[in-house]
Amino acid sequence: MRSTLDGQRIAVLGGSSGIGLATAKAAQQAGAKVTIVSRKPPAGFAAHAADLADPAAIAEAFDTIGEIDHLVYTAGEPLELMTLNDFDRDRARSFFGLRYFSVLDAVKAARVTTSITLTTGIAKDRPGPGWAVAASICGAVEALTKALAIELAPLRVNAVSPGVVRSPLWGPDAEQLYTDVGRTLPLRRVGEVEEIAHAYLYLMTQPWATGTILTVDGGTTIA
Ligand SMILES: NC(=O)c1ccc[n+]([C@@H]2O[C@H](COP(=O)([O-])OP(=O)(O)OC[C@H]3O[C@@H](n4cnc5c(N)ncnc54)[C@H](OP(=O)(O)O)[C@@H]3O)[C@@H](O)[C@H]2O)c1
Repeated sequence: MRSTLDGQRIAVLGGSSGIGLATAKAAQQAGAKVTIVSRKPPAGFAAHAADLADPAAIAEAFDTIGEIDHLVYTAGEPLELMTLNDFDRDRARSFFGLRYFSVLDAVKAARVTTSITLTTGIAKDRPGPGWAVAASICGAVEALTKALAIELAPLRVNAVSPGVVRSPLWGPDAEQLYTDVGRTLPLRRVGEVEEIAHAYLYLMTQPWATGTILTVDGGTTIA
């Protein structure tokens, strides 16, 4: 039974920024051999540049990377909200591309021995107006996580469900949003990417966790 990441091979898809980058750094500090896959992977890691919207690019990335112990998927473009009034079927469908269908492409293409950790979010539990599609993606990833945990067992499949976290996802002018959201939470602040990274490391190293959706949200969903 291995509960350490020392020497483990990890691919972080979407690891060039925010939650994924923090996870890549924390895993590397724990002794893992980390490969980042994204369109613009950063220096300091093994890297494979790929647009994860393209299934062929995903397959090619895993051909190059070879066998890994853990797959982490955090890729996501900035979210666009859409009220029912603005509903557009093609745009809504496109939102599922990177966060849902590319996850399936990646899980299918990867040669993983130990665990897969996906990313959902608490929008599925606490949606606001305009969040119908985004919340649905989160719900779909939660269901996908549990279904894959059954289909791929004994490979472990889990997901992290963050609340609002300070990251480039929200753009450069999000301080007011962080303040406003943070004020409403039991812990009185939004999260930091390093705090969420901790959850990915936990799920990678907890040998009896599968089908788990690990919420880390400063108390958002109980407030
Ligand atoms: N931040 C939050 O408050 C929060 C809360 C709940 C859930 N989440 C979810 O957590 C995930 C990560 O969020 P984050 O805050 O870390 O966002 P982020 O800082 O914007 O990072 C997004 C990552 O996705 C990659 N990416 C985007 N489009 C890509 C593409 N076509 N191909 C390959 N990689 C692509 C980016 O890399 P490149 O630009 O190099 O391609 C980047 O590494 C997202 O799914 C988000 O919805 C975030």
